[in-house]
Amino acid sequence: MIIGVDVGGSTTKAVAITDKAEAYLTVATVDPLASAIGALGALLTKMSKEMVDIEAIALTGGRSRILPERILGIEAFKVGELEAVGIGGLYMTGFSEALVVSMGTGVAIVEVRKHGRKIKHVGGTGVGGGTIIGLAKKLLGTTDINRIVKLAREGDVKKVNLTVGDIVGRPIGILDLEDTASNFGKMSDEAGEEDIAAGILCMVGEVIGMLVAMAAGATGLTDRVVLVGKLSQTRLVSEKVKKICEKCGVKAIVPEKGEYCTAIGAAVKVKRLRETF
Ligand SMILES: Nc1ncnc2c1ncn2[C@@H]1O[C@H](COP(=O)(O)OP(=O)(O)OP(=O)(O)O)[C@@H](O)[C@H]1O
Ligand SMILES: [Mg+2]
Repeated sequence: MIIGVDVGGSTTKAVAITDKAEAYLTVATVDPLASAIGALGALLTKMSKEMVDIEAIALTGGRSRILPERILGIEAFKVGELEAVGIGGLYMTGFSEALVVSMGTGVAIVEVRKHGRKIKHVGGTGVGGGTIIGLAKKLLGTTDINRIVKLAREGDVKKVNLTVGDIVGRPIGILDLEDTASNFGKMSDEAGEEDIAAGILCMVGEVIGMLVAMAAGATGLTDRVVLVGKLSQTRLVSEKVKKICEKCGVKAIVPEKGEYCTAIGAAVKVKRLRETF
């Protein structure tokens, strides 16, 4: 089996691949090498496997750059993060081309063509998962995503956002009355922690959603948008992204286990290379 390890800015994901994806594991990213070895060791233990069962390791993710070419005696191949995101996105959906959006600490939008042979970084935004954690730390006194989501579920974005209805008083262009005119543009004195949490998740989802919809339009991949990364599993955010895409005639999907897309893509790339030679 091949183990894919994605050392991201926030979390390190490990996945085991044979002819399919077999097992998954996430740990927080601390020191990149310690996190990679920790995720690998924990995954093997979970599967009741040993180091001798590993054919090769595929390393990817922003913080994998400084990792060595052998880990615990096993060959470790580095795969570029954008390529891993792209190949993983196709593998998980069965598409031959797609716009794959890595929603992690930051957000990267990757155009993938020709079954993954052509990969282009279309753009992205720094308004991502890290933004949620950073703003919540100061405004809500927590960095726990589960707590932030729990608060947001009880919140009302209308207490913090200025809507189209507030400003224009009627729908305008593609916008309905309740759509956002200005994120945090109202910020009522009555806004509580719940409303602020809802406002943060809404803002991040709306920024990503609009950007993705534009990128899908520009590339023509309007029926093939794939949302991956751990932030794609936070439904309050991904549902917002999907809703904005839908408004713009773009269909976005969230594959199951999408947070492992980058790790899977790296492992699949190394597996294919080994089968070729
Ligand atoms: N269970 C979770 N644990 C940690 N972060 C989560 C979780 N669920 C959702 N998130 C959100 O996902 C973000 C991290 O996503 P992910 O782990 O995919 O990023 P990354 O791969 O570490 O970063 P990048 O790809 O930008 O280098 C966090 O900033 C947080 O907002
Ligand atoms: Mg990532």
